[in-house]
Amino acid sequence: MSEQGVVVYADDALFAPSQALAERLGWPLLALPALSAESPQAFFLCYRDACLKLLDKQTLKKGGLAVDVDPRPGEQHSYPAPKKDLLAQAIGKKTKTVVDATTGWAQDSLALFRMGYDVQCIERSPVMAELIRDGFQRLAQKDWVQSRQLQRPALMVGNAIELLARLPDAPDCIYLDPMFPPKRKQTAATRKSMAILREILGDDLDRADLFAAAWQATGKRVVVKSPDYAEPLGGKPSESYQGKLLRYDVYLK
Ligand SMILES: C[S@@+](CC[C@H](N)C(=O)[O-])C[C@H]1O[C@@H](n2cnc3c(N)ncnc32)[C@H](O)[C@@H]1O
Repeated sequence: MSEQGVVVYADDALFAPSQALAERLGWPLLALPALSAESPQAFFLCYRDACLKLLDKQTLKKGGLAVDVDPRPGEQHSYPAPKKDLLAQAIGKKTKTVVDATTGWAQDSLALFRMGYDVQCIERSPVMAELIRDGFQRLAQKDWVQSRQLQRPALMVGNAIELLARLPDAPDCIYLDPMFPPKRKQTAATRKSMAILREILGDDLDRADLFAAAWQATGKRVVVKSPDYAEPLGGKPSESYQGKLLRYDVYLK
């Protein structure tokens, strides 16, 4: 894992939060104009467009990736959103509490939150944790969240293999979406957000141990999202929900 980058700021008004962020991560802090194109670091964090963004050299001047807290295209905007897609079927309609042990860009956590599940999140990458925290702060400001007095998902930062063993209450479901090695060279269709995550974090080689920890800690089920070509992580699943390029394997206790 090569999580060394630079925090950059383009605007003096954002110096203080940028400095605090750089201190938390132990990263250098630089003003954007001071950054040379030959900078040895490949990744940058910057407060831009009212959110925290992860940048690479192409997006340094403009753009970047943030945790997107709005519904996905095609998703209903009502709350709670209907539990009708494959993810909801795998998680189970009667499930109430879900721990997402591999939060990443939080797109699955947020979809579950919008469906009304009680979601707790775990992420071990300090960089991703900063991006998630920023996203959840923006989520908490949304009208639909405030008017219903919904609590944003809690975020625990650390290795889920250890944190799951210390949960005070067993959740109904533990959800896992670790990084699997790509089968073939990544295509343009691979979402940029996932490609950049792979570049920074690499594959999650301890995913078998993560499954074992989740199986121990769950109250009722473990759900694993995996690419269609990968072997089921926990052996033969109780149920599987097959999508176009991915699969949700469900293990019932
Ligand atoms: C493929 S991404 C998850 C994407 C996520 N489902 C989404 O919707 O954006 C995997 C993430 O899980 C995290 N992760 C993997 N193993 C972990 C572990 N043992 N403990 C905590 N986080 C872990 C990685 O750091 C990475 O951010």
